[in-house]
Amino acid sequence: MTDTAAGQIDHVFHERRLFPPPAEFTAKAVIRSQEQYDDLYQRARDDRDGFWKQEAEQHLHWFEPFGEVCKWNAPHAEWFVGGKTNASYNCIDRNIDQGRGDRAAIIWEGEPGDTRTLTYNELKSEVCKCAAALRELGIQTGDVVSIYMPMTPELAIAMLACARIGAIHSVIFAGFSAESIADRNNDAQAKMVITSDGLHRRGKVLPLKVTVDEALEKSPSVQTCLVLRRIGNDDVPMKDGRDVWWHDVVDKQSDDLPAEPLDSETPLFILYTSGSTGKPKGILHSTAGYNLWAKRTFQWVFDHRDDDVYWCTADCGWITGHTYIVYGPLAAGATCLMFEGAPNYPAEDRFWELVEKYKVTILYTAPTAIRAFIKWGDQHVDKHDLSSLRLLGSVGEGINPEAWMWYHKKIGGSSCPIVDTWWQTETGGIMMSPLPGITATKPGSCTQPLPGVVPSIVDETGASVDAEHGGMLCIDQPWPGMLRGVWGDEERFVETYWATVKGKYLTGDNARCDKDGYYWIMGRIDDVINVSGHRLSTIEVESALVSHELVCEAAVVGRPDDLKGQAIAAFVTVTDPNPGEELRQELRMHVRKQIGALAQPDDIRFAAAVPKTRSGKIMRRLLRDIAAGREAAGDTSTLEDYSVLATLREEE
Ligand code: WTA
Repeated sequence: MTDTAAGQIDHVFHERRLFPPPAEFTAKAVIRSQEQYDDLYQRARDDRDGFWKQEAEQHLHWFEPFGEVCKWNAPHAEWFVGGKTNASYNCIDRNIDQGRGDRAAIIWEGEPGDTRTLTYNELKSEVCKCAAALRELGIQTGDVVSIYMPMTPELAIAMLACARIGAIHSVIFAGFSAESIADRNNDAQAKMVITSDGLHRRGKVLPLKVTVDEALEKSPSVQTCLVLRRIGNDDVPMKDGRDVWWHDVVDKQSDDLPAEPLDSETPLFILYTSGSTGKPKGILHSTAGYNLWAKRTFQWVFDHRDDDVYWCTADCGWITGHTYIVYGPLAAGATCLMFEGAPNYPAEDRFWELVEKYKVTILYTAPTAIRAFIKWGDQHVDKHDLSSLRLLGSVGEGINPEAWMWYHKKIGGSSCPIVDTWWQTETGGIMMSPLPGITATKPGSCTQPLPGVVPSIVDETGASVDAEHGGMLCIDQPWPGMLRGVWGDEERFVETYWATVKGKYLTGDNARCDKDGYYWIMGRIDDVINVSGHRLSTIEVESALVSHELVCEAAVVGRPDDLKGQAIAAFVTVTDPNPGEELRQELRMHVRKQIGALAQPDDIRFAAAVPKTRSGKIMRRLLRDIAAGREAAGDTSTLEDYSVLATLREEE
């Protein structure tokens, strides 16, 4: 258990407030009685295959029916064996077949204020054209396509176009560096990169294509680069024989390309995420199970109804954007708002302006954003009419009870249920969350598992522990949305998730379960830190620092931060005898270049040595204390203090 987690536990232990759903919400809810939930939960647990057979038949389109429901040969699962379906078909054509063709699928607003609405019919045309262009450019079923794009409709279109022809997308968040893009291209052996001439960010333009060009110098597998004109920047260098403009190849294609019937287990996407080691892992999800999980969890948790305008503020570069901007809501036929910009541009009321303008009914955002809004002040919220909202969601990290209260009162007008959704890139979709029509919520708790999720809390040996005290959170049964592997690294897949407790999925989080059966996530077991809801491995940042010629050693830990949840604190030893502000700045920029702006350390402390245990492990607990200012370590900038502290701690 981490020290920060310990702080959190202490805090939430005192949380006694309970917020039952408003009666008028319950009356119209998708799941509106405890009995209904109990029935779903028990059927999913006790008759797993029967339950999911019915769900899959009812909620996905099948070109050919499946046979066996779940072939579970731990840790390998195959769901809906032998069936043929297509995620793009489920998200688009199926809605059209069911009479929703003229409904808005995506309502988009760009950062400069430009807007566009795509109905399901229009989305289909765009996806078909893009899919046909991918084919023309030589992309076949099973090929990997990296997508490094701004939050434009074309990002979702590109994902769905890959899905339509059975190509595997690997979306790379458009804040990552050229190095990170190249690493991902190489690991996945991507054949194509889709990008744009640039990205609007807080009034400036980020030159995405320039970054991609740098990455492509080190990505030999990439044969083609498809470039969307977003900014209108014609100076973008285009390499002959490799680079093509979106408008040249996509626009001319036919707008009707039938979705390829694909085996249930066809890989749908890879999404790179941080683990305990320096190398990000490509989490693999497959077609049918993931799509079903995305759709059903969306419908259950967000209580989706026909007249909703749903807005998930995530970026498609993260799993939240995959599952709850694209595959879940579209499969459910929802109308989704998609926004390109930042919450504070041109002013700190941009989100609330959008909620008012588009009459958003369901808002799904992250605690780090909520904390920023609190800091910016209520006046930005007060300017707008938020009465269209009926449900609020939170994801990415635990939400502090005080931020929860502000969200509840200020944004929800004390009348919207809040769904605090716990899940991971690996789980594909939400695993634990209140069901807004029935669950009385406790601020800071993700409450209860969804149907199909069977959690347990264990110690290092796999033995059950007193759940109220807490321990490692595992999932005991396979579920349709579970990861199918780590791309190209079977050993890492088994080691990370399945070796600690045989037959159970190890989440990497600590959790406790209170006497009402409510779960409280207590932070990570491993060396993963959570900065503004984004996962980073401390070792990844350490490796980036050490790759600088003046750095000998680096130790990175998270420290509590009011806005980001965790900030990055780095302790580095350097060859420069008098390191100062200039080197500190240089190292920050170096990490930015290696990984991306999101990994830039907040604090860099120069040290003469990094404290280690005798077995050579960095003493992160000690460093976390120092970084958080919890340790009366005196002048911590010298070797002696660390080594003395380290020795003392070791001998305790
Ligand atoms: C953390 C994001 C507490 C957790 C969907 C998890 C949370 C990691 C919550 C996954 C929550 C996410 N309460 N902690 N509601 N949601 N986390 O893969 O540590 O980017 O393991 O997926 O974020 O992060 P990932």
